Amino acid sequence: MTAPAIHASRLTRRFGDTVAVAGVDLSVAAGEIYGFLGPNGAGKSTCVRMLCTLLAPTSGSATVAGHNVLSDPGQVRLRIGVALQDAALDPKLTGRELLAVQARLYGMSKRQAAIRLGELAGLVDMTAIDRRIETYSGGMRRRLDLAAALIHDPEVVFMDEPTTGLDPDSRVRVWDELRRLNRDAGVTVFLTTQYLEEADELADRVGIICRGELVAEGAPTDLKRRIGTDVIIVAVDGDAHAAAEAVRPVAGVESVEVHGDELTVAVQDGSRSVSPVAVALDTNGATVTDLRLRSPSLDDVYLELTGARLAVEGS
Ligand SMILES: Nc1ncnc2c1ncn2[C@@H]1O[C@H](COP(=O)(O)OP(=O)(O)O)[C@@H](O)[C@H]1O
Ligand SMILES: [Mg+2]
Repeated sequence: MTAPAIHASRLTRRFGDTVAVAGVDLSVAAGEIYGFLGPNGAGKSTCVRMLCTLLAPTSGSATVAGHNVLSDPGQVRLRIGVALQDAALDPKLTGRELLAVQARLYGMSKRQAAIRLGELAGLVDMTAIDRRIETYSGGMRRRLDLAAALIHDPEVVFMDEPTTGLDPDSRVRVWDELRRLNRDAGVTVFLTTQYLEEADELADRVGIICRGELVAEGAPTDLKRRIGTDVIIVAVDGDAHAAAEAVRPVAGVESVEVHGDELTVAVQDGSRSVSPVAVALDTNGATVTDLRLRSPSLDDVYLELTGARLAVEGS
């Protein structure tokens, strides 16, 4: 077994009376995309800053890329790429200059940097690379900052809310690039997000953080399955109670509730039950006006675990 790319044990950080991160245990395998999901103030950035050696833990410990963040921060820094939430890019530099500075910091030759820039062309707007950063849109700046974090081909990358505030086009480009780097270069990705959709789309495994604590962890599908069943919503024209009785005996149906002219049918496996349910309704002469399958979402998981909906909308 290879050592995990990121390992944290009882990682804790206090600011005065505020416990920003409260004893988080984490283990992220090499080559994994791990999504740290939680609302504003949950402790995501504080956790990232500790893992990136930018902030000392109050207690607990962590290793990243095989090196201890406290006793060996230099070794950690050489192996990681970091894009923080509040990146300040020098507006007078051009995109190319910024990337060159970053490459030089890591001891890369001009040739290496140029090759690497070509590889990151999916993130950077090459038509704007020789323009000053002050002329860039928010999305262009953010993507340039992500490219700067990746220029030295790090083993592990930390991205703190990489797509917050990005337009849909930029968001998709960032997702595609992270997926590509993960798939082709085996880069381990630790990203934080407030977007359920992003965690669901991108992460192999999701950790849900709430008030400094990791309240759940798992693959998105497992997290969803853990909290419940699929639901088929059927609208009928006519006697909904009779329709409910027709559906009840169908294999895989766990419960049927009637609300007005709508049936809520809880089933073990939605994709398997849709057609038997539809057939039973048809056989019993029910007129179906609408039929929808609803799988539990990460938002349902989040609600179950924390008692609150994650209010932020992914755009
Ligand atoms: N430098 C700091 N000084 C005081 N409190 C802080 C500091 N950084 C973060 N906090 C507090 O710690 C908590 C977690 O913040 P943060 O890690 O930024 O959460 P997130 O990134 O999930 O929004 C919040 O209550 C925040 O106000
Ligand atoms: Mg944050």
